[in-house]
Amino acid sequence: MSSILYKKEKVVSGIELQHKRFVARELSKNLIMFHDPKSPAAEAYRTLRTNVGFANIDNEIKTIAVTSPEPSDGKSTTACNFAISLAQIDKKVLLVECDLRKPKLHRYFGIGNDVGLTHIIADMIFDDQPVMNFVKKIPDIENLSILTAGFTPPNPSEMLSSQKFKNFLDLLKEEFDIIVIDTPPVAQLTDAAIVSKITDGVLLVIASGKTNAQAAISAKQSLLNADANILGVVLTKIDKRSGSYYNYYNYSSYEE
Ligand SMILES: Nc1ncnc2c1ncn2[C@@H]1O[C@H](COP(=O)(O)OP(=O)(O)O)[C@@H](O)[C@H]1O
Ligand SMILES: [Mg+2]
Repeated sequence: MSSILYKKEKVVSGIELQHKRFVARELSKNLIMFHDPKSPAAEAYRTLRTNVGFANIDNEIKTIAVTSPEPSDGKSTTACNFAISLAQIDKKVLLVECDLRKPKLHRYFGIGNDVGLTHIIADMIFDDQPVMNFVKKIPDIENLSILTAGFTPPNPSEMLSSQKFKNFLDLLKEEFDIIVIDTPPVAQLTDAAIVSKITDGVLLVIASGKTNAQAAISAKQSLLNADANILGVVLTKIDKRSGSYYNYYNYSSYEE
């Protein structure tokens, strides 16, 4: 009996998936956890989810920043797919854009950036509206919400290091099981280190064969200087010729 039910469930979910593919064409192809959850890459993101779960067994991790030494290492792709992987196990997830200078997260999900984090920090939210009104739900991905960047401020670092932002993050922690924060590269700015300082853990994305070794070392040092809790290193863009497709992405626990 149970195996029949199981088979029935499987068929139903297969049909749903095709439907989702059809309606959600605006979702970036990089959101592989959504578009192709059975792919080896999606499996690798699930492994990341598991490993992060084990990384700090004693301390609950509620806020995780994703950063990397340089632009285009794969921060946003990692943050999005990691967030989706958590939403898929029924965690209530919020993905927050903290790249206030070059925000892109909203484009990954095909949503607007008319109002977002900077409006909240800058007190531009009128009429005492609950902040949850400014968090956007992603209809195709249950349990996932996004807080986009908002307007481009003249002083992103100050905004991110403000008490207001910290307080706001505390408020959000009450509403969500886990908050994943996408940040700018560590090497160019202080923003990533600032955000990492106030989160429970950081994932450091390194693009294999692309990220400059020296940049990787200084990024790690900047994060450590900011007292960041580096949960691990995520390797992206691994040359497929040098390994199987399973190596699309890898995760290694962090060691000093
Ligand atoms: N694990 C990966 N393997 C291969 N390509 C990737 C991977 N992650 C990201 N990319 C590609 O790298 C590019 C930059 O990714 P993005 O996540 O926007 O980088 P960042 O946020 O660090 O600037 C995108 O075109 C994306 O398709
Ligand atoms: Mg990015």
